[in-house]
Amino acid sequence: MTTTASGDTAPSPAYFLDNGSDQAPGSLHALAGTLDGITFSWLESLVGPGEDCVELGPGAGTLTMWLARQVGPTGSVLALDLDPRHVPAHPRVTARVHDLTREPLPAQPAHHYIARLVLAHLTNRRELLVQARQRQRHGGRFTTIDWGREPAKLIASAVVGARETFDDYQSALRKVLAGTGNDGTFAENAVHHMIDAGFDEVEQHRWSTTWNGGSAATDLVTAVSIEKAVDLAAHGFGPDQLARLHLVMADPDTSIIGNLTYCTTGRVRAAS
Ligand SMILES: C[S@@+](CC[C@H](N)C(=O)[O-])C[C@H]1O[C@@H](n2cnc3c(N)ncnc32)[C@H](O)[C@@H]1O
Repeated sequence: MTTTASGDTAPSPAYFLDNGSDQAPGSLHALAGTLDGITFSWLESLVGPGEDCVELGPGAGTLTMWLARQVGPTGSVLALDLDPRHVPAHPRVTARVHDLTREPLPAQPAHHYIARLVLAHLTNRRELLVQARQRQRHGGRFTTIDWGREPAKLIASAVVGARETFDDYQSALRKVLAGTGNDGTFAENAVHHMIDAGFDEVEQHRWSTTWNGGSAATDLVTAVSIEKAVDLAAHGFGPDQLARLHLVMADPDTSIIGNLTYCTTGRVRAAS
C-alpha cells in the first residue's frame, strides 16, 4: 500500500515486468551483463568479509552471488524479491518472497542494504530508506544503483530511421513506466532522499558506457520491448516500429551512449 499525503492508503501499482514471463531470464541476465561491471567496481571497497547484506529485488541474482563471495564464510546475504525464482542457490544466501511495498524490511540489523534498479519502481521508496536507516548498525551503508531520466543517445546505425525509432521507443517506455508509479527523477535525487532518511555521509558517482548492437544492453532493450509490446503500442509505438527497433538493436554498426548510471551510497557514522 502507498500512504498518501492525507494519510489514506491506495493500492501500489504493480511492478511493470514479470520475473515469471518468457522474456524474464533473458532480460534479467542482459541487465546484469549491462550493469555488473559498474556495480562491482563501485561496491568493491564497500562490502567486506563477515558482513550481513540485504539485497532488495535481486532479479537474476548475479549481484547476490557476487555479494556472497565478497562477504565470505562468516557473512550472509538476504535477497528479497516479489519473485526470487532466478536467484541461484548458495550456502550464504537466503532468497525470500517479499513484497517491499507491503511488508516491512526484516527487523534484524544489516551492515549493507543494496538495491539496483529497484527503488525508482517502488512508490514507498522513501519509507524503505527510512526503515533501513532505523535497522542499520553503526558504520552501516545503503547503496542504490539507478538509471537517470536522461535518454540514451543513438549515435550510429546502418538501419534507416534508427535514431527516430530508438527515440520514439524511449519516449513510449517512459510513458509506460510513469503509469506504474516509476519515479524517473529518483536517481538524480537519491542523495537528497538518503540525507532526508537520516544517513550521515552520502556519496554518488555517475557512469555512462557505449552500448553496441548485439551486446547485453541492446539485448535488454529487445527483451523489454517484447514483454511490453502491448503497452508500448498503446503509447503509439506499434508493431512496425518494434520490428525496426529489433533490427537496430541487433545491428553490429549500432552504437549508443547508454543511460547514465547513478551509484549512490549513504553511510551511518561509526560509533565513536
Ligand atoms: C529491474 S529488476 C532489477 C533486478 C536486479 N536488481 C538487477 O539489477 O539485476 C527489478 C527487480 O525488483 C523486483 N521487484 C519489483 N517490485 C518489487 C516489490 N514490490 N517487492 C520486491 N521485489 C520487487 C522485481 O521482481 C525484479 O526482480
